[in-house]
Amino acid sequence: MKIPLIAGNWKMHNSVSQSTQLVDALIPRLNVIEGVEKLLIPSHTALYSVSQMIKGTDISLGAQGMYWEEKGAYTGQISPAMVKELCSYVLIGHSECRQYFGETDQTVNKKVTAALAHQLVPILCVGENLPQYESGQTAPVIRGQLRDGLRGISLSHPGQLVIAYEPVWAIGTGRSSSVNDLHSVVSRVIRPALASLFGDDLGVQIRLLYGGSVNPQNASDYLSLPQVDGALVGGASLDAEKFIAIAQSAL
Ligand code: PGA
Repeated sequence: MKIPLIAGNWKMHNSVSQSTQLVDALIPRLNVIEGVEKLLIPSHTALYSVSQMIKGTDISLGAQGMYWEEKGAYTGQISPAMVKELCSYVLIGHSECRQYFGETDQTVNKKVTAALAHQLVPILCVGENLPQYESGQTAPVIRGQLRDGLRGISLSHPGQLVIAYEPVWAIGTGRSSSVNDLHSVVSRVIRPALASLFGDDLGVQIRLLYGGSVNPQNASDYLSLPQVDGALVGGASLDAEKFIAIAQSAL
């Protein structure tokens, strides 16, 4: 049995004090939701404070990104070891990083490799943009992102990697994927691609999240799909009530 994972990607929102206020509101109510892994992904500046607050709870912590080198003259970056000191997860290949910050499948591959070398669990984000979706390119785009992003990667157990499928046209737009579309992408594209990369067993056991305008109203529809193991939530994760409701719908 896979434990569902509900992750809140706060993006470039919340100062340290806003972050601690949100975590204060979340802890007592998230902590009583058993059988669901709850993951918070604040900004880098709030990671330390949040890591101290969630000690002793069953809430996990992730970073929104990192560089692949161990250390050195890389102004503005944080290293895998710095992330590992505070977090167990790291987001890699988010479409906003691909779109605004030059992330490519090749840099994704270096980061996934570095994360695994540091026993961090990469949450690899894949997804097609609107022109690709409208021109029927969804399957080849996602296959390419998985193949190139995971090139040379081998896993010894499925918990080492999480995949997040986020159609770019659904992120922050209020326009979410239909459950049928999601089912078809997951069962015809992503699961078979993972099986061909890692073998049938790992291919079905790796946790696969849906992301893109997930909210308390639509979460249970996505989470009811047997091959979807959780959600990567952006906007709605900034609101304690909404994030709690989404986590509850994973039960
Ligand atoms: P959204 O963001 O829920 O605001 O669409 C999802 C994401 O980018 O991870």
